[in-house]
Amino acid sequence: MSSTIESHFPKIWCLLCCVLGLLLFKNVEAETIQTIQKEYFSWRMENEPEYGTYLGRYAFNDRVYSYNISMFEVRRNKTQEFLKRLNAISSNITSSERINFLILKDTFETYINGSKWAWYGALNPMNFLEGAQLYTSAVKASTNSRGDFENYIARLNAIPHQLEEVKESFREAIRLNRTYHNVSIASVPAMIDQLIVDPLQSRFYSPFNNSLSNAANIPESEKSGIRERGLQAVNMTIEAYRSVKDFIINEYFPNTRTHYGVNSFQNGSEYYRACLKWHLSFDMSPEEVYRVGEQEVGRIHQEMKMTMRRLNHNGTVKEFFNSLVNNSNFYSNDSDKIIDEYKKIVFERINPKLPEFFKDIPDVPLEIRKMSYDGPGGGYSSATEEYPGVFSVNLFRPLENPFFDFMALSLHEANPGHHLQHSYAMLADLPDYRRHTPLSFYDVPVWFPWYSAYSEGWALYSEYLGVEMGLYQDDYELMGRYSAEILRACRLVVDTGLHYYNWDKQRAIDYMLNYTAYSFEATEIEVNRYITWPGQACAYKIGEIKMKELRKKAETELGTGFDIRDFHSLILTNGAVPMSVLEMLVNEWIEEVKTRPVLSGGSLVTGSHKWQIFSLLFLFIILQ
Ligand SMILES: *[C@@H]1O[C@H](CO)[C@@H](O)[C@H](O)[C@H]1NC(C)=O
Ligand SMILES: *[C@@H]1O[C@H](CO)[C@@H](O)[C@H](O)[C@H]1NC(C)=O
Ligand SMILES: *[C@@H]1O[C@H](CO)[C@@H](O)[C@H](O)[C@H]1NC(C)=O
Ligand SMILES: *[C@@H]1O[C@H](CO)[C@@H](O)[C@H](O)[C@H]1NC(C)=O
Ligand SMILES: *[C@@H]1O[C@H](CO)[C@@H](O)[C@H](O)[C@H]1NC(C)=O
Ligand SMILES: *[C@@H]1O[C@H](CO)[C@@H](O)[C@H](O)[C@H]1NC(C)=O
Ligand SMILES: *[C@@H]1O[C@H](CO)[C@@H](O)[C@H](O)[C@H]1NC(C)=O
Ligand SMILES: *[C@@H]1O[C@H](CO)[C@@H](O)[C@H](O)[C@H]1NC(C)=O
Ligand SMILES: *[C@@H]1O[C@H](CO)[C@@H](O)[C@H](O)[C@H]1NC(C)=O
Ligand SMILES: *[C@@H]1O[C@H](CO)[C@@H](O)[C@H](O)[C@H]1NC(C)=O
Ligand SMILES: *[C@@H]1O[C@H](CO)[C@@H](O)[C@H](O)[C@H]1NC(C)=O
Ligand SMILES: *[C@@H]1O[C@H](CO)[C@@H](O)[C@H](O)[C@H]1NC(C)=O
Repeated sequence: MSSTIESHFPKIWCLLCCVLGLLLFKNVEAETIQTIQKEYFSWRMENEPEYGTYLGRYAFNDRVYSYNISMFEVRRNKTQEFLKRLNAISSNITSSERINFLILKDTFETYINGSKWAWYGALNPMNFLEGAQLYTSAVKASTNSRGDFENYIARLNAIPHQLEEVKESFREAIRLNRTYHNVSIASVPAMIDQLIVDPLQSRFYSPFNNSLSNAANIPESEKSGIRERGLQAVNMTIEAYRSVKDFIINEYFPNTRTHYGVNSFQNGSEYYRACLKWHLSFDMSPEEVYRVGEQEVGRIHQEMKMTMRRLNHNGTVKEFFNSLVNNSNFYSNDSDKIIDEYKKIVFERINPKLPEFFKDIPDVPLEIRKMSYDGPGGGYSSATEEYPGVFSVNLFRPLENPFFDFMALSLHEANPGHHLQHSYAMLADLPDYRRHTPLSFYDVPVWFPWYSAYSEGWALYSEYLGVEMGLYQDDYELMGRYSAEILRACRLVVDTGLHYYNWDKQRAIDYMLNYTAYSFEATEIEVNRYITWPGQACAYKIGEIKMKELRKKAETELGTGFDIRDFHSLILTNGAVPMSVLEMLVNEWIEEVKTRPVLSGGSLVTGSHKWQIFSLLFLFIILQ
């Protein structure tokens, strides 16, 4: 058959095909997952220049991110191109590259699938939690050389246009009736006001004072010219912010949506499903999320009631916490004492227990510090090769944080939560794009994934693990644990309530106040956050439940062959992955352990590492 076709094929075409084929083959040969990963990351740095500056990559310091709505299509097409290239090499992926391949593919597909919803929330690029009014420090580059200053002035000069794009995008949201509820944006004008000052006093201007004065490599004669142009650029930038503020007050406020939930948009329920999927990194319906939430709230509430009864308290959760508020055994105003208490918990109580549950624990230093601003109760900032990880604790309102809350928070932010999680990922030698993922939530699901169900699910699982590790030393610490857990469970009910079941804000607040220990003020801010970021707050509890499910499955199937330390290594050593990939990894691991020849030592073996194990055994034999 094929020979007859060939015989009719003109020779010249044959030759051309050969040449083309060779060329193509050459191209294909040069293409590897590494080249795609690298190019993709370079493109992201170019696409998000402020974030590049923040990472210390200065190639695009003269530019700013574009909020132009025409960019949705440009970015989508570019991502589609990357995906095409990736699919073309799918048959040439080695087993050690497989996880990176799956995640890169998931990254591209998540964006492309999400971009169907570009004309929804993503049209609203400023809210009380994120946006160009808050990320101003990221525009500042290192300002040492003449070139640095030129770049910085160029960037400042680009901001007015960037803010025009923001307005145009908001206008499109207004035109399509897909704006925020007022609660998401009401405080933004006051935030912008912070930026509207005398240009000479502006934080945008400060590099032209200090850095420029100290820049020895710039001739003094040129400095005043730079300063003059800098001042003009800062002045223009401030004027542009003022104009956005006026726009928000005069045009946007009157057009904010009246419903709290995004299901009030056309196709809004489907949009909400897409948001949920983006945050959870697997499919789960709003009905299911709500059901799981109610069930979890009921379960944890019962635990709290029983615990309070043991403590001879028969009132509500809030009454319980309030009744302790003047008890100096539980509260302190003394920052040093509080920090010492956290240090004791992490270094003396938690860390000695880790080896029973983890192996090959990376030795990455951790510091515990006072948070420099009045943010959430606690936070973790990642260690780097040069800097330790930092577990920061909010000490601004010490009388809202009893000592017995500290254990759960330490498990979550420090070990075995975010710090240990990050320490394993550091050793994993992840490609750049997986190590540096800029956060952006307003445009979900039209954004590259960042897998918070994995990272936050793990941190919440760590709070649970404290029980198995025997770390909650009394009923008070258990109350602290449940109080943190029930908040995450309530979020499932309230998030779906607001965006899927037409709850209003008051109902959401009442629900949370009924079950949690938090004040009205704190609860209102929480609920405003859920209204602003549909689906985001569900990642924590759902991620944790998924991890517990996977563990249960492995325990059931492996019986005595289940090793908790191996299981935890499997979860942690691959860095952040979508839940669908995590599930696949666990399933493969189960099969692998089932068929594994009995090896003493019980080290982790995944399919792709078989060969290494054999060669290691071989090495042992030689050494012995
Ligand atoms: C397959 O990938 C390897 C490196 O990962 C590369 O050296 C090789 O050229 C690739 N082969 C083809 C046919 O693309
Ligand atoms: C994006 O791709 C589509 C389909 O290939 C094409 O029609 C469109 O012109 C492209 N848009 C841009 C901005 O490149
Ligand atoms: C994207 O959509 C396609 C087609 O519906 C689907 O096969 C794929 O699994 C989706 N990918 C992700 C990451 O959601
Ligand atoms: C956005 O991009 C489109 C197409 O390139 C252009 O016509 C429009 O003027 C841009 N809008 C702004 C505010 O720059
Ligand atoms: C937006 O809402 C208004 C008032 O409810 C309506 O007249 C208009 O048609 C809507 N526009 C779109 C694009 O749905
Ligand atoms: C939105 O909030 C602002 C600030 O609180 C207020 O001035 C404005 O009247 C509100 N607009 C609507 C439509 O509720
Ligand atoms: C910059 O210098 C001027 C003049 O010395 C001073 O008034 C201003 O406060 C300084 N601005 C900043 C932001 O440091
Ligand atoms: C800033 O610009 C405004 C008008 O855009 C002008 O009136 C004002 O003098 C300028 N201020 C400085 C310090 O250049
Ligand atoms: C929204 O729904 C309409 C029909 O109600 C449909 O034609 C349209 O394709 C849907 N849009 C999206 C983005 O799903
Ligand atoms: C709770 O306890 C207090 C005193 O300890 C008692 O007066 C009150 O009746 C109890 N309430 C209930 C509902 O048991
Ligand atoms: C705690 O102390 C404050 C001020 O001393 C007092 O007003 C309040 O009633 C006390 N609360 C409790 C529960 O004892
Ligand atoms: C408050 O909690 C109790 C106990 O679970 C429950 O019976 C009641 O319905 C709840 N109220 C609200 C508003 O959720």
